[in-house]
Amino acid sequence: MSLIDIHSHLLPKVDDSKLSKFSFSKMMKTYREAGIENLCFSPHINDPYVDTKMDKIEPTFEWASEKAKKEGINTYLGCELYITEGEIPQKFYPHFSRYVLCETNVDFAPKCYLDSLRKIKDKGYEIIIAHIERYNWLNPESETFRVMKEELGVLVQINASSSRTSKANEYLTRGLVDFIASDNHGKFELPKLLAETLASNPRVYQKMNNFIKSI
Ligand SMILES: [Fe+2]
Repeated sequence: MSLIDIHSHLLPKVDDSKLSKFSFSKMMKTYREAGIENLCFSPHINDPYVDTKMDKIEPTFEWASEKAKKEGINTYLGCELYITEGEIPQKFYPHFSRYVLCETNVDFAPKCYLDSLRKIKDKGYEIIIAHIERYNWLNPESETFRVMKEELGVLVQINASSSRTSKANEYLTRGLVDFIASDNHGKFELPKLLAETLASNPRVYQKMNNFIKSI
């Protein structure tokens, strides 16, 4: 069964990706060899720490898709939307026109965080919380998480590279993880690590297979 990576920063010179155009095809080969034939590009949007070239996203995605196709990889354009205390930007790219991968500050929740998520939901999108294991202010027992899950129906993603941390484990053991992804900024070892991590987490693997069938 083909796999999917829903979180990557592999569009050269668009955000903080370390991958060059020169090495792009080699990276796509690495994905195919790992058995991952579906790849979402998710450039940072609205991240106060990353200077994303918004005007380069679409043309670079077109270039990347052509290259990836030659290596047998299906590509999709999404984004990683940073939730701040300000307004949600007008322009962003939901995965498959429906799912918004959201990140925010790891040390504190922005004021009105839940309201911001509600606004996204009210626009008709589903929310995926990116690398949930990073948020020091959030845990599966917290009231904030209860609202996120029960009221807003958020989906949860963890990074393969931190899947063995105690924080990730808190979500994994409760069956709360919907996606494991690479958050790959240009590391060639990550596709294989993602495939191995999915193999050792069959519950998440099954959810992701169902997700692929639904898109
Ligand atoms: Fe990311």
